[in-house]
Amino acid sequence: MERVVSGIRPTGPLHLGNYFGAIKNFLLLQEREECFFFVADWHSLTTHPKPENLKKRTEQLLIEMLACGIDPEKATLYVQSDIREISELYLYFNMLAYKGELERVATFKEKIRKHANNVNAGLLTYPVLMSVDIIIHKATKVPVGKDQEQHLEMTRNFVNRFNHLYGPLFPEPEAYNFGNELVKIPGLDGSGKMGKSEGEKNAVFLGEDPSSIIKKVKRAVTDSGPERPGMPVSEPVQNLFDIMKQVSDPATLAFFKEEYAQARIRYGDLKKQLAEDIVKFTAPIREKIRELSANPASIREIREAGAARAGESARKTIEEVRALIGID
Ligand code: TYM
Repeated sequence: MERVVSGIRPTGPLHLGNYFGAIKNFLLLQEREECFFFVADWHSLTTHPKPENLKKRTEQLLIEMLACGIDPEKATLYVQSDIREISELYLYFNMLAYKGELERVATFKEKIRKHANNVNAGLLTYPVLMSVDIIIHKATKVPVGKDQEQHLEMTRNFVNRFNHLYGPLFPEPEAYNFGNELVKIPGLDGSGKMGKSEGEKNAVFLGEDPSSIIKKVKRAVTDSGPERPGMPVSEPVQNLFDIMKQVSDPATLAFFKEEYAQARIRYGDLKKQLAEDIVKFTAPIREKIRELSANPASIREIREAGAARAGESARKTIEEVRALIGID
């Protein structure tokens, strides 16, 4: 069995991008590999959330991950900050990461463009912490969306550097989607990816009310419509097709694509169908979130059991690392 690790930041409710980029694969992998899935609460500190919000969002994310179908009997589900060994390994790996390579990471460059007034060292070394999350369990497969690909490349660099300096301890992990291209789910605003930081209206959340989902999809950006048959599909419309590909049946998508190709598509109909299919897809998750939210004691128990299992795996690794680097 291979080891699988992946995390999600508690920065907002789970959205369709998280689901189809990552969680869908968590569900498949937990059936066949040894899996560790976690709430990356330390990672979310780069933007200084209010303490009470961080706590709430962490608990909520555990609930939402469970509601999606992560089974704590099959996978180890835990909170990053419950495993203090990660912070120690982060310290060691920070000595192996060079400022120049960290500054070249695309997600870092994007963050400094968007938040020039908060370029903190935690943001710069974000890929180091992420690498440590993975190697603390010696994982080889990391199910993530397309936006995380470069971080996995960095992880392999750090691993190679460590192995070269101290001895072969860590395997090289890879971003994983069963041999397929990594997934990028677009947002509703006509460009880019669906994301929490891309604006509330851009993302559809799994626990969102049907009426709100319908309203958001209705307002999604399209174009003025194809003028004649055979026109290439514009980016905002392709985005809606991309989301439809995930939530609707193939015949529905094929129908609207053909309508577009024949230049007789009605975006009102497309959006109505898409909203309906999203509501249908998310209904059981919404229901499960409600159920689980009513029982905080069981969530606490699951969290503790996950911390115990993840902690055991992390302690084994950190002891090996200490011995190799001369801190015994
Ligand atoms: P985060 O919290 O931004 O997103 C969690 C997961 O959802 C995927 N994702 C998407 N996939 C496709 N299309 C989208 N629009 C979309 N939006 C989000 C992300 O790729 C990710 O898989 N750095 C990570 C969290 C992390 C991590 C780790 C992941 C910390 N340590 C170790 C793997 C292994 C992040 O910010 O994900």
